[in-house]
Amino acid sequence: MIIDSHAHLNDERLLPIAGEIVAGFKANNIESCIIAGFDYKSSLLGVELAEKYSQYALIGTHPEEIKEVTNVILGKYKELAKSSRVVGIGEIGLDYYYEDNPPKEEQIEAFEKQIMLADELKLPIALHVRDAYGDCLSVLKNMHAHLNSGILLHCYSGSKEMIREFNAFDCYYALGGAITFKNAKKDEVIKEIPINRLLVETDCPYLTPHPHRGETNEPKYINLTVEKIAAVLEKEKEEIIDITNKNTKTLFFKIRG
Ligand code: NI
Repeated sequence: MIIDSHAHLNDERLLPIAGEIVAGFKANNIESCIIAGFDYKSSLLGVELAEKYSQYALIGTHPEEIKEVTNVILGKYKELAKSSRVVGIGEIGLDYYYEDNPPKEEQIEAFEKQIMLADELKLPIALHVRDAYGDCLSVLKNMHAHLNSGILLHCYSGSKEMIREFNAFDCYYALGGAITFKNAKKDEVIKEIPINRLLVETDCPYLTPHPHRGETNEPKYINLTVEKIAAVLEKEKEEIIDITNKNTKTLFFKIRG
């Protein structure tokens, strides 16, 4: 069955129906989901949901929210990581898309602090990177000694060439609904990702796959993303499900079991 490796059931749009969503997993061929935090509050909520519904959680602060990343918050994350449902630090990273995002230097500093936190906790990291793949590579190079528990590039949107650079860090890549968009032109990127490093995700409520664009995204639509990957790689859907399920467990569930 499919594991949705990045879902925001902690988003205000999905929170009221989180129970219903999880109850519908089996009917939609979904085994579980990993609820991703984007700031401390949503991380705490994600852990609570993961505990309540037997799912998993990532905790961390998104690059747009890094003003909150103080030693106090990092200490709170350490406390939160004591939950057996926490499987990684995320989503963390760099986002240069909007002009009013925090300054690059501050983003890099908060990113590095959260990499240190993940290393201390021996947890993998899930990265949000937008228009910043070059700087992300530089950070990974600088922080190489602290990257010991695995790296996922969530919702990978970089080039085929960049994949070769990230492979040097043994990165995993998660693909979401964006690859199904009509103008996506992602086939070459999909083919370039090492198959034993490929994960799937929804990033719900965002990035709803075609033909449901415009609707709120939910984990059930992950089937459309899996079908697109199967078509591009000329494999059976079941094979893609088995491979991505195994990869997700190797990256995120190896410590917690
Ligand atoms: Ni996300």
